[in-house]
Amino acid sequence: MRVEILNPEVQGLASLSRAERQLPRHVAIIMDGNGRWARQRGHPRSFGHEAGVAAVRRAIRAALDIGVEALTLFAFSTENWRRPAGEVEFLWHLLQRHLQDDLPELHALGVRVMILGERQDLPQAVQRAIAAAEEVTAGNDRLFCAFAVNYGGRRDITRVARELAEEVRRGRLRPEDISEDLLEKRLATAPLPSLDLLIRTGGEMRVSNFLLWELAYAEFVSLPVLWPDFEAGHMSQAIQEYQKRHRRFGGVGP
Ligand code: IPE
Ligand code: IPE
Ligand code: MG
Repeated sequence: MRVEILNPEVQGLASLSRAERQLPRHVAIIMDGNGRWARQRGHPRSFGHEAGVAAVRRAIRAALDIGVEALTLFAFSTENWRRPAGEVEFLWHLLQRHLQDDLPELHALGVRVMILGERQDLPQAVQRAIAAAEEVTAGNDRLFCAFAVNYGGRRDITRVARELAEEVRRGRLRPEDISEDLLEKRLATAPLPSLDLLIRTGGEMRVSNFLLWELAYAEFVSLPVLWPDFEAGHMSQAIQEYQKRHRRFGGVGP
């Protein structure tokens, strides 16, 4: 489906087809730098997380405007439980509020919401907000928006390994039938197109246990901007960088 480009910052791309524009189908973002942003202003880390929610809205809007098919946002890693309990609780509260408050607008915009990660460890109220957002938006197809919450790349692969081992034990699967394709189809990201571009804000050059399998041939762009300062223009900037890359997938290329 062709998405109209509404944002003036990306209008230059409007006259070109999807293929000509070499648009990434699936963009993922490690939304980093909330704490530093707050500290620079003399505020507690929670202030940065709160401001980060507005940046999430801008990122979703930009993805819609540009015509990306899927956007995966890293909101909480399996290692983020190491943070002070008060910060973790605040993050759950924010996620719940965002899902509830923004659900009507996301739905009206045609966004399909999905959560990646182990939701059973989250507070009940958050699990209910997740279920409602997924259910209400299940039929939407303008943008697939996945929030990675209590997600870890290693955890996801380990979960699949365990499931497959169980099927072998029950005699439903032979070890020799376990292929890359089969394993990939069981990952939490299976419903999404394959990952093209990873953006990390905050300037770090690491993946912090995000989509480990999916990142095999994705392009990586690290932006020096702290997440609460993220604007549509940063999304365009990262995509323009992506468009200059030559993806060879191990071959020799042009
Ligand atoms: C990212 O910002 C948000 C989450 C991990 C939830 P941080 O909280 O990691 O901010 P910095 O990296 O400490 O600045
Ligand atoms: C990665 O950021 C996780 C999220 C953005 C949710 P972190 O701030 O947790 O990563 P590290 O600790 O700097 O590697
Ligand atoms: Mg961080």
